[in-house]
Amino acid sequence: MRNPFTLTELKNNEDFCNRKKEINLLKNLAMSANNAVILSDRRFGKSSLVKRVQNEIAGKAITVYCDISAVSGIDNFCEKLSYSILESIRNRESLFKKAATFFFAYKPVLQYDAVTAGYSLSLLKTGNKKGLELLTETLDALKKTVENSELPVNIAFDEFQDITDIKDAEQAEAILRSVLQSVSASFFFIGSKKSIMQDIFTNKKRPFYKSADIIALEKLPIDEFAQYVADKFNSQKKQCSVENAYYLINKVDNMPFYVQLLGLHTYINTEYDVTKQIIDETFAELLESYRYYFGKIIESIPPKQREAFIALAKNPTDEPYSAAYLQKHSITLKTMQNTIKNQEKEGYLENCCGMWKLNDKVLAEYIMKYC
Ligand SMILES: Nc1ncnc2c1ncn2[C@@H]1O[C@H](COP(=O)(O)OP(=O)(O)O)[C@@H](O)[C@H]1O
Ligand SMILES: [Mg+2]
Repeated sequence: MRNPFTLTELKNNEDFCNRKKEINLLKNLAMSANNAVILSDRRFGKSSLVKRVQNEIAGKAITVYCDISAVSGIDNFCEKLSYSILESIRNRESLFKKAATFFFAYKPVLQYDAVTAGYSLSLLKTGNKKGLELLTETLDALKKTVENSELPVNIAFDEFQDITDIKDAEQAEAILRSVLQSVSASFFFIGSKKSIMQDIFTNKKRPFYKSADIIALEKLPIDEFAQYVADKFNSQKKQCSVENAYYLINKVDNMPFYVQLLGLHTYINTEYDVTKQIIDETFAELLESYRYYFGKIIESIPPKQREAFIALAKNPTDEPYSAAYLQKHSITLKTMQNTIKNQEKEGYLENCCGMWKLNDKVLAEYIMKYC
């Protein structure tokens, strides 16, 4: 018997619950040189989804996956992009050889690795181009590689909003947009910080305005997810009724990662039959074990704004700027304004039907219990 829940990116198709419509749509966009923006809160399944789509079209297309989370600057972006492109084509000998002549600043080097008995790719930095000049050169290499490919090309940028944090971000965005629109490939822009991503693609003044279809990834349909959870337990000879599977899912607000996390630990804590009591106890254990992780998130907020954040976690409100709310929580108007602006940008606060609240219900419960 093995634990049937998975906390890492989903690799097997049978681990995937639903997302059929999205998979089909993205496959179509990828094969027809069309773009997409894929948006949702953290840990909803964006990266897993895009990797699955790329796996499914792998024989018929060249698929590049480039994670730019926490990118430190333009040069770092260029390096990540060059590496992802060269890595994706290294088994296509003739295209790889051609591409190696297009990437001037980063020369690909294949080295024999005795441990894996295969060749591993690394890049050798040459020349002294930097910043925007290097970006132009790298994008030119991308364009030439796509032009020389006989197969359609799909390039996914994960955590794309992080590009806005680098030095010279505005110019980089403009150059990126102008080159990408001249390349006949499909681009996926994936992002967890919804408000920044929305601004990039829906603000008329920004270069990427209306450059891609926006696909907002919602929670999974609860009926199907409950059946999935019950089947997972039952497949490994531990019984879980569909009713208790609903209970487990609702406990973590139907957030895909937390469902898998609570499922995984409930599985460990169950001998034969899953009960509500085991689910409750496991959830309490999880909150406790997430102290370090959640603590870090909370500590990263400056002290005054932290108080406002905690107030909103404990008491969601449609009137955060009202004198009554501010007075009750001893918060100034300016602090509340800054907290909402910053934490919406960071993707922790959201306005849902007029109410300001944390979008991560598990983090909110942690704050309720420990702060
Ligand atoms: N369709 C799905 N079915 C079941 N579990 C899922 C699904 N999508 C995501 N998950 C769970 O959520 C986790 C986070 O997925 P990931 O793709 O890393 O999210 P994101 O990129 O949005 O942060 C996965 O490791 C998995 O445990
Ligand atoms: Mg991701």
